[in-house]
Amino acid sequence: MFETIEKAGISREKNLKTAIRFVKAQLKNEKNLLANLSNISAIIAAYMDDINWAGFYLMVEGKLVLGPFQGKPACNRIEIGKGVCGTAVETGQSQVVKNVLELENHIACDSASRSELVIPIYKDGTIFGVLDIDSPSFGRFGDLEKVSMEELVSLLEASL
Ligand code: SME
Repeated sequence: MFETIEKAGISREKNLKTAIRFVKAQLKNEKNLLANLSNISAIIAAYMDDINWAGFYLMVEGKLVLGPFQGKPACNRIEIGKGVCGTAVETGQSQVVKNVLELENHIACDSASRSELVIPIYKDGTIFGVLDIDSPSFGRFGDLEKVSMEELVSLLEASL
């Protein structure tokens, strides 16, 4: 769905490093949360190939509520413990799902999604929200993506 601004021949690792660099610059230059989450979702969509959704759900009154994102319209609210996002909140652990079709608990916002990566975001030790990335390919996310997006989220957490 997204046209990446990566050049042909640039590795995924290099593109993720570039994305992290842009996120650092964004967070250094801007303190507004909405602006930062909006541009971070756009940076991910620009530098991660083969994805169809990237964005944030934020905790509001005990539920995840849709935040800034890139992709098709998505579910507005997710209960804790439901779906991949709600599971990340419940467990406090990053979720790497290789095949969402095998997951009973999956919430299909975009029927094109086949694999998913969700990283919980904390502020002062309390859950603040999640970063959610979906791909139309099975097994799109591995250690490289998990570690890179956890680094991205820790930069974001330091700005909250
Ligand atoms: N699939 C997610 C819901 C959010 S959308 O992917 C944007 C889940 O199971 O939590």
